[in-house]
Amino acid sequence: MFIINKAGRDDIPAVLEIEKVSHARPWNEAGFICELSKQRSGRGILLTAQDEGSGAIAGYITGDFIVDYLHISNMAVGPDFRRGGAGRMLLAAAERETLKKKFSSLTLEVSEKNEAALSLYRRFGFEIKGRRPKFYEEKYDGLLMWKRLI
Ligand SMILES: CC(C)(COP(=O)(O)OP(=O)(O)OC[C@H]1O[C@@H](n2cnc3c(N)ncnc32)[C@H](O)[C@@H]1OP(=O)(O)O)[C@@H](O)C(=O)NCCC(=O)NCCS
Repeated sequence: MFIINKAGRDDIPAVLEIEKVSHARPWNEAGFICELSKQRSGRGILLTAQDEGSGAIAGYITGDFIVDYLHISNMAVGPDFRRGGAGRMLLAAAERETLKKKFSSLTLEVSEKNEAALSLYRRFGFEIKGRRPKFYEEKYDGLLMWKRLI
């Protein structure tokens, strides 16, 4: 099981380790520090999933509150923890934070080639609402997905 927390400065090294092995173009430290500052001022989230057994950071999610929705800008779960439910728990926590603000929707963009993420988002109730042709690697479409909450 995983415990969801708001990230702090001390979590950034562990987050960066996961980021490096999860994305082709990983964010750097400054990127995550910026997310922490948005979280502090209520403009965004940077939540972590902590493995209950080992205490290790298993994954994280970031997002920006825009108008009345949360745009999920990044999420990843470390390879050792995948298929353990952390991704679903992080999305559920992001949804709770959005509902606390009485905002209406969640949105994100994902490559049509990212089957794991696409399957997770679909199962979580996201629908494809738009497409950015050949946005990823100049080959794969970016899928714009929304989940209406209220
Ligand atoms: C996408 C990602 C965050 C999923 O995290 P996770 O913790 O493994 O996801 P969960 O265990 O909560 O999975 C929930 C459901 O999503 C779907 N899913 C997750 N990984 C999947 C995979 N590899 N293949 C097919 N379906 C998958 C399944 O329906 C799964 O439910 P099930 O395990 O009961 O079948 C993780 O694979 C990851 O970090 N990938 C690399 C980074 C990335 O692609 N981030 C998203 C960028 S938009």
